[in-house]
Amino acid sequence: MKKEISVFLENEKSTSELGLKLSEKLTAGLLLFLKGDLGAGKTCLVRSILMSLGFEGKVKSPSYSLFEQYIIDGKTINHFDLYRFKSPEEWLAAGFNDHINTRDITIIEWPEKAQNILCEPDIEIEILYDKEISRRALVKAKSKKGEMVCKDLV
Ligand SMILES: Nc1ncnc2c1ncn2[C@@H]1O[C@H](COP(=O)(O)OP(=O)(O)OP(=O)(O)O)[C@@H](O)[C@H]1O
Ligand SMILES: [Mg+2]
Repeated sequence: MKKEISVFLENEKSTSELGLKLSEKLTAGLLLFLKGDLGAGKTCLVRSILMSLGFEGKVKSPSYSLFEQYIIDGKTINHFDLYRFKSPEEWLAAGFNDHINTRDITIIEWPEKAQNILCEPDIEIEILYDKEISRRALVKAKSKKGEMVCKDLV
């Protein structure tokens, strides 16, 4: 099975479409890392995942709060943004590790900020700028569970 998929994101609509496809395949306990520069479109992707799952409220970027939690149809989705971490140890000090469990779907922007403390994800998505205007998402499966999600994703 192909463990890395490259998806061209011509515009925000393409990012939303990727979010929709992911939302249909996310399974309990899945850990998803989102990498890419400031403004790459990570929160945009999370927003479309949450809206596709049926969330109707405002999806806030957790740039300041670090963490937002959503309960949609009995499913818990944890959304982190670790950009403001000064050291990886903050992850443990904040008790955030309890949110990585076998039930919740957990999505982490800027996982690099807690490098060597966070466990390996099931999927890592890196959003790269392509010719400055559009983007490209590299979707990498890092576990068997992640492979199942990536299978026939696009
Ligand atoms: N193809 C695209 N996909 C996603 N966003 C796009 C795209 N093209 C342009 N944009 C714009 O890029 C911005 C992406 O912002 P977003 O907050 O999602 O980035 P981010 O990666 O979460 O940044 P940060 O690291 O600051 O959290 C938005 O203003 C959006 O309108
Ligand atoms: Mg963001």
